[in-house]
Amino acid sequence: MRIPVIAGNWKLYKKTAEALRLVQDLSPLVADVQGVEIILAPSFTVLGPVRSLLNDSPIAIAGQDCFWEEEGAYTGEVSPGMLVDAGCSHVIIGHSERRHYFAETDETVNKKIRAAIQAGLFTIVCIGETLQERERNETFDVLERQIKAGLTDLSDDEMKKVLLAYEPVWAIGTGKTATDEQAQEAHAFIRRLVAECFSDSCADGLRILYGGSVKPDNIRSLMSQPDVDGALVGGASLTAESFAAIIHYQK
Ligand code: PGA
Repeated sequence: MRIPVIAGNWKLYKKTAEALRLVQDLSPLVADVQGVEIILAPSFTVLGPVRSLLNDSPIAIAGQDCFWEEEGAYTGEVSPGMLVDAGCSHVIIGHSERRHYFAETDETVNKKIRAAIQAGLFTIVCIGETLQERERNETFDVLERQIKAGLTDLSDDEMKKVLLAYEPVWAIGTGKTATDEQAQEAHAFIRRLVAECFSDSCADGLRILYGGSVKPDNIRSLMSQPDVDGALVGGASLTAESFAAIIHYQK
């Protein structure tokens, strides 16, 4: 039994007052939720205030990225240990926006994942094909490359700290969601590949989130797919009502 995960990626939105307002509005709406892990990924500057406001709430917080070195002369970077220090239990690694705008590669993604796990963080590792790659029928090749290179040198034990997020790039922020069948097909492929590269038990326990224009009106059918274990939500996580509705997808 894999516990479902709903994670909100706030990207480059929400200064302190807006962030705290969102948490204040969201908390009572989801106070009754059981059996779903809720994660918020605010920007670095508001991690501390959001963590303080959440206090002992079961809602977890995540960094949206981290560097692979723990400390040193690396101006502008944030280390995994700093995220832990700010109260994070999770970190997102390899989001397509990082790969696209900030030149992240499978190699840097791998270094970051290993450093984050070393610091005790759960890592939400994002993978997914672009529209051109899908149209060229390269979806599975891309996923295979991203998984094999991105998860290089991880042990089965370390894989327990990994969650994968399948985010087709063409569905992110575009309003175009993958169909339930497209999501299921990709997730099943990912799980089979993880079984091959690691072990059956590792693949069985792995949570695979779907991301890309997840909304209150499509979450339920996505989550009904056998290999969809959660969602990584961008735009619809920015208002309390829509994110709460997504978290309440079982209702
Ligand atoms: P979206 O973003 O829900 O706005 O499409 C998802 C993501 O980038 O994680």
